[in-house]
Amino acid sequence: MGSLLAGVAHELNNPLAVVMGQAMLLRESAANSPFAARADKIHAASERCARIVKNFLALARSRPPERGPVALGGVVTQAVELLAYELRTSSIEVEVRLSEAVPVFQADGHQLHQVIVNLLANAHHAMRRIGGLRRIILTSAFDAATARVRLTITDTGPGIAPELQAKIFEPFFTTKPPGEGTGLGLSLCRGIVEEHGGTLTVESQPGHGATFVMTLPVITARRSSRRWSTMVTRSMWQATASRPSPGCTARTSTSSSPTRRCRAWTVRPSTGS
Ligand SMILES: Nc1ncnc2c1ncn2[C@@H]1O[C@H](COP(=O)(O)OP(=O)(O)O)[C@@H](O)[C@H]1O
Ligand SMILES: [Mg+2]
Repeated sequence: MGSLLAGVAHELNNPLAVVMGQAMLLRESAANSPFAARADKIHAASERCARIVKNFLALARSRPPERGPVALGGVVTQAVELLAYELRTSSIEVEVRLSEAVPVFQADGHQLHQVIVNLLANAHHAMRRIGGLRRIILTSAFDAATARVRLTITDTGPGIAPELQAKIFEPFFTTKPPGEGTGLGLSLCRGIVEEHGGTLTVESQPGHGATFVMTLPVITARRSSRRWSTMVTRSMWQATASRPSPGCTARTSTSSSPTRRCRAWTVRPSTGS
């Protein structure tokens, strides 16, 4: 099914390129006439189609994850840093609480980055129009009993009605106006997480924000000894999480238990006050 749809989406690319090209030519030859605005509309709509096709191809392409050692703390840090500017200018505070107990595990770091960026972008969008507290909290933890890593992303947005909570993971389900959402983000995210043997769920009480919960099994490379994993954890950890970028306030919790110990940092909104 996926490959059939991917084939159709791919086939749409060529005629779409023709529509876009012709619209541009029409725009040029119709300059200063009322047809110019119509040509612009055709071009904008075909561009949107092309974007949907591109997103759809990313979704339908069921390529297996490329496994490599991943330090979740580093992936989270990079994703937050990517969106830090936009979040700060929207007066959103981001708090990151990374557990030191999370080991390095085998995963596709780029895909996990994509998931976290998508979830942050959704939280950002959800909070754009609310007054009061705007905060996103990312928390990582490791459950040694099940050998699973857990990452939660909580926002203080409007939350999600119970009847919509299952639907939001369906492809093309969106509550955003045309041009703002494709409805592919969460289905893409869930696909990636499930390819990793993990789960992606939501918990939300309308009016009280939403929490997206990702769990992933900790798969370690056969060759890697425990000592190697610990060494990589430390070095990757130090390379990323101990380097708060400008605008971040860092602190380390003082718990003596290694499973409880975590590093936390906050990106504060740039209110100028
Ligand atoms: N953090 C959130 N708070 C409230 N609603 C959310 C949140 N994340 C996702 N949603 C809802 O889930 C829908 C689907 O999300 P998604 O699959 O990413 O598609 P899109 O962002 O293009 O709408 C959104 O349109 C929105 O209604
Ligand atoms: Mg989205």
